[in-house]
Amino acid sequence: MTTATVPELLDELRAYLSPTPPQLSLPPALFASPEVYELERERIFHRGWVLVCHADQLAEPGDYLSLDIAGEPVVVTRGRDGALNAMSPVCRHRMMPLVGEGAGNTADFTCPYHLWRYGLDGKLIAATHMRGNTEFDPATCRLPGFAVEVWHGFVFVSLAGNPSPLAPELSVVEREMANYQLDDMVLVSSWTEDWACNWKVAVENGHENYHAIGFHPDTVRPLMTGGIDMDVHYDSPVVCRLLSPAGQPVEPAVLPLTEDECKVLYSFRVFPGGSVATFGETIAWLTFVPVAADRTIVRGGSLMPRRLVEQVGLENIRPGLEGFTARVNTEDREGLEAVQRAVTSRYTRRGHLSPKEQGVLAFYRSLAHALLG
Ligand code: FES
Ligand SMILES: [Fe+2]
Repeated sequence: MTTATVPELLDELRAYLSPTPPQLSLPPALFASPEVYELERERIFHRGWVLVCHADQLAEPGDYLSLDIAGEPVVVTRGRDGALNAMSPVCRHRMMPLVGEGAGNTADFTCPYHLWRYGLDGKLIAATHMRGNTEFDPATCRLPGFAVEVWHGFVFVSLAGNPSPLAPELSVVEREMANYQLDDMVLVSSWTEDWACNWKVAVENGHENYHAIGFHPDTVRPLMTGGIDMDVHYDSPVVCRLLSPAGQPVEPAVLPLTEDECKVLYSFRVFPGGSVATFGETIAWLTFVPVAADRTIVRGGSLMPRRLVEQVGLENIRPGLEGFTARVNTEDREGLEAVQRAVTSRYTRRGHLSPKEQGVLAFYRSLAHALLG
């Protein structure tokens, strides 16, 4: 890894905005530099729409998911009114985190420090021994809220003050995925993993099938019946569609897929780290969220049409799907953690990309937009 200043690295990145971008991987320092990570926190993860979970994981009033988005604690809740809320779970008294990372169900959030209590919408319900402080107004005390948007079951959060809505960005995907009937899909399994790699190492890997021949010869590779090519459509700095040919056409049991749709494994990415991919009637989603420059939390799950799950039975579907996903994840994680360990080697250099890695270039372009824009 050669050392370079942040302005120099950003200059290299600018070249990916060109209609004829360099067919090269990123400078290795971009995967290791603490300064670059700071910039990514500010310009990407604390601004854009981050996929956090599927709505089925927050189905009941009181369900919550507490997570870290690039160093910022966030909790997403399902309120008594059925609405989703996202907010900062840091007590307004003296900064105690109200809840640790993870998921659960609760009536409210009671601060463990001095027992101030907040509702699922972030409003203060009660503060102990505070009446004597006349300057304190409990009625206006609340946890800072963040924007939440649910797109056909996928829950996105933005830490930006007033983000532009995500749905218009996804209008092409919405039209093209209509026959998948996403609103009638149910989550059949979900998982969370902790990978010791930079978030971009994980996300660029998710933009190509080329690695199926190396990391996944017995798992993903056999699903790529049409080969490892991808048709890449860069719609905007936020949305990219990646279509792979299905060599053996999909034979849907319940979805009204057209003949053309059966010939394609349809997938799309939402920058920075959201990913949704179809494998026949099963949909695999993933989200990569950094918690440090060299650590990424990976959340994901599998969706299937409700009617199919009812026909076949969840107990007959889940174990196989969970076993398969765990294997694929281990293959990716072990490989990508090895890549991360090599990033700081004195001899690493940018590498030449294959024509099969156009998706990786699309990701670099989005990255350049976000960091330079
Ligand atoms: S820090 Fe939360 S009640 Fe004191
Ligand atoms: Fe993979």
